[in-house]
Amino acid sequence: MTFQPNLLQGQRAFVTGGGTGICRGIALELARHGCDVAITSRSSTHLDPTADEIRAMGRRAVAVTADVRDPQAVEAAVARTADELGGIDILVTGAAGNFLCMAEHLSPNGFGTVVDIDLKGTFHCAKAALPYLKRRGGVMLNISATLHYVGTPAQLHVACAKAGVDALTRVLAVEWGPYGIRVNGIAPGPIADTEGVRRLLDDASTQRAVETTPLRRLGRIRDVTDAAVFLCSDAASFIAGHTLVVDGGLWLTASRDAFAAPPEVADA
Ligand code: HXC
Ligand code: NAP
Repeated sequence: MTFQPNLLQGQRAFVTGGGTGICRGIALELARHGCDVAITSRSSTHLDPTADEIRAMGRRAVAVTADVRDPQAVEAAVARTADELGGIDILVTGAAGNFLCMAEHLSPNGFGTVVDIDLKGTFHCAKAALPYLKRRGGVMLNISATLHYVGTPAQLHVACAKAGVDALTRVLAVEWGPYGIRVNGIAPGPIADTEGVRRLLDDASTQRAVETTPLRRLGRIRDVTDAAVFLCSDAASFIAGHTLVVDGGLWLTASRDAFAAPPEVADA
C-alpha cells in the first residue's frame, strides 16, 4: 500500500542524520511527498549524494554539516536552511550514536557521548528550530527506540538517552502545542540494512529477533518512513506527545538478551 502522493507539498523539512539509514529514508520520503529538505550530520560524504537524490526528484535540498552536540553549529545549520528554503515546517531529529557495552565497562565519556548526541542534540535542534516552526505551526518528530521499555543489557547509555528523548517529546508537545507545533516520536524496532542493526545484532541475534517478533520479520526502512509521513501529515493533526512504536510487536514479547553480546562479554 502507498499513500496518495504529495501529502506534504510546499513544506520545508530539516532532518538530522539524514544522509544515512533510517533518516536518509525519511528525508527521501518527505521529498517524494513534496517537501524541500535539508539534511545534516557530521560528514558531507553521506549528505551530498542524498541531497543530489532529493534534487533529482525536483525538490530543493540543502546539505549542511553540523555536530548536533554543538548548539552554535546547529543554530547556524538551521538558520542556513531557513534562509535557503524560506522557512522550516518539519524538524526530524534522528542523529544518534550507539555501541554495545555493559554498564560495568562503560566510561563516563562513553555514557556522556551518547547522551550528548541523542538527547542533548535533540534539545539543541528543538531550540534552534523553534523560532521557524512557530511562524506558521509545524511538526517535530523525534526518532527514539524501544530499548528503554525494558532493561536491555549493554544499552544503558542509549536507553537513558532515548528515555530522555521520549520525555522531551511529551513536555514539548505540551509547551509548543499552543504554537500549533505537534511534537511526536517514532520508536523503531530493529530495522534491516541499517547501521543500528549492524552494530547491535549478529546473525544469531537477528534470527532470534525475527522469531520473537509477532509479525516475524525485521523492520524495513519503509515501515519507518511511512510512519514518519503519517505523523508529519494532516492525517495526524490531533496527535501530539505520542511516540509511535514501529517494531512488529517485538517490544511486547522480546527477551532483551536478543542482542549480540558485546565483545567484553563474548570474550569472558
Ligand atoms: C565502549 C566505546 C565504544 C565501544 C566508543 N566508546 N565506542 N566504549 N565500547 N564500542 C567510547 C570511547 O571509548 C570514548 O570514551 C567515548 O565513547 C567517545 O568515543 P569517540 O569515538 O571519541 O566518540 P565520537 O567520535 O564522537 O563517536 C561517537 C560514537 C560513534 C557514538 C562513539 O560510534 C559514532 O559516531 N556513531 C554514529 C553512528 C551510530 O552509532 N549509528 C547507530 C545508531 S543506531 P573514552 O572514555 O575512551 O574517552 C541506534 C539504535 C539502534 O542508535 C537500535 C537497534 C535495535
Ligand atoms: P545511522 O545510519 O548510523 O544514523 C545515525 C546518523 O546520525 C548518521 O547519519 C550520522 O551521520 C548522524 N550522527 C551521528 N552522530 C552525530 C552528531 N554528533 N552530529 C550530527 N549527526 C550525527 O543509524 P540508523 O540505524 O539509521 O539509526 C537512525 C535513527 O534510528 C537513530 O536515532 C537510531 O537511534 C534510531 N533507531 C534505529 C534502529 C535500527 O534498527 N537501526 C532501531 C531503533 C532506533 P555522521 O556520521 O555523518 O555524523
